Amino acid sequence: IAGLINAYGADRELPAIANLAVFAGIRRDIAEMDENECEVLTELLLLMDKYDLYGKMAIPKRHDFEYEVPELYRIAARTGGVFVNPAFTEPFGLTLIEAAASGLPIVATHDGGPRDIVQNCDNGVLVDVSRPEVIAAGIKRLLTEPALWRKCSESGVLGVHQHYTWDRHCRRYVDLLSGLNTGKPTDMRTTGAPAKVGRRLTAVKRLFVTDIDETLVGDKASLDALARLLAEHRDTVGFGVATGRNPENAVDVLRTCGVPDPDVVIGAVGTEIGYGANLKPDRGWQTHLAAQWDPDAVREVLSGFSALTMQPRAAQRRFKISYFFNAKDSDLGLADIHAALRGAGVRYNLIYSGGKYLDILPRRGSKGKAIRYLQYKWSIPLNHVLVAGDSGNDADMLRGEVLGVVVANHQPELEAMRGRRKVYFASKPYAAGIREGMERYGFLKHDHAGEARPPARRSAAT
Ligand code: GLC
Ligand code: MG
Repeated sequence: IAGLINAYGADRELPAIANLAVFAGIRRDIAEMDENECEVLTELLLLMDKYDLYGKMAIPKRHDFEYEVPELYRIAARTGGVFVNPAFTEPFGLTLIEAAASGLPIVATHDGGPRDIVQNCDNGVLVDVSRPEVIAAGIKRLLTEPALWRKCSESGVLGVHQHYTWDRHCRRYVDLLSGLNTGKPTDMRTTGAPAKVGRRLTAVKRLFVTDIDETLVGDKASLDALARLLAEHRDTVGFGVATGRNPENAVDVLRTCGVPDPDVVIGAVGTEIGYGANLKPDRGWQTHLAAQWDPDAVREVLSGFSALTMQPRAAQRRFKISYFFNAKDSDLGLADIHAALRGAGVRYNLIYSGGKYLDILPRRGSKGKAIRYLQYKWSIPLNHVLVAGDSGNDADMLRGEVLGVVVANHQPELEAMRGRRKVYFASKPYAAGIREGMERYGFLKHDHAGEARPPARRSAAT
């Protein structure tokens, strides 16, 4: 506002053409206002004095929103005036819409909402409000060019009716949304999932995600029984695995064990997501992980530790650097590794499992984070997701709102999770333990059958 008074006061012609009324809130006694407001108002009054604007400028102490404000716009419009919004930033600009609806042309900041409003309503000029002479020039143009003034006044009234009534606004909003929702196959392609898998993941009521080694696989008889059970519930229950293995390798193992192909494979300790039999990669997830991932820096920092041995080449992936590390028999502790990485300013996630595997992943990567990404992307409520595991790299996916199951043959590192809410420690090992957990949670019961799921957020997570 001080900028506007400077623009008005310093200009040789403006005070002769128009008066300036400043509506800067409501006040009783400036001396009693808090410091910040007091300073602002004092500055405005001092500027009025400096430019000697007595009789030209007013800063009314109060205005009534319901009766006076509409009338103020109308008075300004009737007398051929303009409305100025001199804010440095303006997210929307409700007052500009009010002015337009009253047929009052505007001069507004060249920022944020006013740009849209002027584009839609063609009802005024946008100016760089950090330069008083530019504000003054904008105001003068409108005040001195009657044809321009009339055009802005008329198209403002029309524009508001076309773009800013609740009816028009809602209709446009709904149009835009329904545009996002048409043509399922096209949408599915943009999510990275093949159409068939996409349709399934949108339709299933529940999702079962399990670790492979020492959880799903390990006891043939109970695995076969679980596979049959999953086949029976295929229409309503999606099937995923989350493993330290690479996705291709995971699918090979499952086929060897006679397990049906999963809908989704979360591989390489959560850093790769593949859909369907062809393991179509989820590109959204890759983009998400790539932020702030500097694998060279990780390798560089950890090359100094002789207790760490690189895993074979095939275990090294774009977003997963893997070592063997026997923490129990080493002087080196996990805390030392954390300290070194943190000291070097590296962003990472460290996962230790089975008493021998050390994986360094991007900060945003893990099996649990991949599951959260999937349930969000496919709109599957977390409490409709059952997760099973046995070792440290399963820990973070067992936490939280999902239905967690830890098989009886689990690694000691998961003991710490005992007693947590929604982490069920089965008394049976391997697939039998998973089945026990499913029964415990009533996961396959048809009591959820008629329940509606919210529509999938197809575009949100790509
Ligand atoms: C699998 C992977 C290995 C990883 C381990 C623990 O065995 O092959 O690279 O370190 O899981 O996550
Ligand atoms: Mg395991």
